[in-house]
Amino acid sequence: MRKSLWMLAAALLIVLGLIWGPVSAAKEKEMCVPMGDILLEPLTAEAKRASVTFPHAVHFGYSCKECHHTWDQVSPIGSCSAAGCHDVAEPPMDEEGKPSRDRLLQIQYHKNAFHSMCIGCHQDIKRANEKLLSSRRPDAGQVAPTGPTGCVQCHPAD
Ligand code: HEC
Ligand code: HEC
Ligand code: HEC
Repeated sequence: MRKSLWMLAAALLIVLGLIWGPVSAAKEKEMCVPMGDILLEPLTAEAKRASVTFPHAVHFGYSCKECHHTWDQVSPIGSCSAAGCHDVAEPPMDEEGKPSRDRLLQIQYHKNAFHSMCIGCHQDIKRANEKLLSSRRPDAGQVAPTGPTGCVQCHPAD
């Protein structure tokens, strides 16, 4: 009798563990995802251009990892300019004052990271559309939507 009570208690604990385990684990990993516009600002105080309004959710047709490329899909997503990431504020130069040839340093430069990713993708789609339009294929009219590639479209003139 006693033994079966113990076994019942143990079974209950296991069931509770099965329910609570995932619930509390999910809680630990909660992450707030900004759905509206995100203002992307320069790291330098001497900005040449106005800050960029980035419509985050317009891009959710893509995998999150398309942009958050170091995300482990477990931890909360952090800032692009976190330490050791794209946190270089000024154009990297070598000792002679020429643009540095260090490719890692160049992509750590905040502006280069954003330009290469944002403009890069919009430009790729634009090129594919131009190719489609100039072809004589029957679906030539169906161009894909893309984002801005011109300076003032992203950095509004003030
Ligand atoms: C698709 C959007 C987009 C386009 C197009 C774009 N930029 Fe940017 N640019 C950004 C983002 C995002 C940043 C990083 C955030 C910031 O610095 O405001 C940035 C940063 C910069 C910076 C460094 C910060 C500063 O203000 O000094 C400069 C300079 C700049 N862009 C100039 C240009 C010029 C010139 C063009 C056109 C040839 C251009 N951008 C086109 C999005 C864009
Ligand atoms: C087209 C690129 C792109 C895609 C796709 C994208 N994001 Fe983002 N996301 C960004 C940028 C840029 C920021 C601003 C980061 C910064 O300020 O440093 C951001 C910010 C965030 C933040 C806030 C990070 C912080 O600084 O606290 C979270 C959370 C986030 N994204 C989650 C997601 C999730 C989840 C998905 C997939 C559904 C996703 N993102 C898809 C570009 C993207
Ligand atoms: C992987 C591809 C990809 C990347 C990376 C990307 N975009 Fe886009 N972007 C698109 C596409 C596709 C659209 C058109 C979406 C639509 O209209 O349905 C778009 C649209 C936009 C628009 C116009 C939105 C509107 O409502 O008209 C802006 C502004 C924009 N992107 C800014 C950015 C900035 C800033 C970044 C970098 C932080 C970025 N995008 C990165 C693919 C991309």
